[in-house]
Amino acid sequence: MRPLIRPALADDQSAIVTLVRSERLNPTNLDWRRFTVAISDGTLVGAVQVRHHKDGARELGSLVVKPAFRRQSIAKTLIDAVLRDVSDTVWIVTGRDNVGHYAAWGFVQAKPRMAPRSVRFNYRAGRAMRFVSLLRGVKPKYLTLLVRNGHPDWPSPSG
Ligand SMILES: CC(C)(COP(=O)(O)OP(=O)(O)OC[C@H]1O[C@@H](n2cnc3c(N)ncnc32)[C@H](O)[C@@H]1OP(=O)(O)O)[C@@H](O)C(=O)NCCC(=O)NCCS
Repeated sequence: MRPLIRPALADDQSAIVTLVRSERLNPTNLDWRRFTVAISDGTLVGAVQVRHHKDGARELGSLVVKPAFRRQSIAKTLIDAVLRDVSDTVWIVTGRDNVGHYAAWGFVQAKPRMAPRSVRFNYRAGRAMRFVSLLRGVKPKYLTLLVRNGHPDWPSPSG
């Protein structure tokens, strides 16, 4: 049966934190109020959020689907759900390998200097984590910055 996609509830908070930490994604700012989740048989199996930063920036992040539930379009459905009602500019800090994937929602690569301070901070913090990964002997992720809509200097989304 397809998982239920719904806005997160307060009771989902600890499962969200566990899921996001399991993939070593940015562990900050994990407020259930910003999350949309996928629920299968009463268990949280996927999550994504749009962070609302104090400087007004919107940032899609914390996208995780539990390994046993991958490749069933759950991530795609979660992204569709959170972007459906967002007309503002949305930023993503993600691995370089993911650029092609997000193009489907109109995201294009952006230069860090064009990003709001909050997003630039997350991008730089993520890049700094590369050194932590190297020290731990884990393959580091090469991050990039993506943006969709809204900024006058960027091309329109392609679809
Ligand atoms: C990336 C992830 C969320 C995809 O979840 P999923 O439910 O399996 O994805 P879907 O079934 O909707 O996606 C179908 C395809 O898009 C790819 N995809 C989905 N989300 C993606 C993403 N954010 N970046 C890159 N590729 C992605 C999947 O790998 C899959 O490709 P394939 O059919 O060629 O194998 C999941 O693998 C995961 O949790 N990975 C670890 C955490 C992570 O990397 N999060 C992304 C941070 S930006």
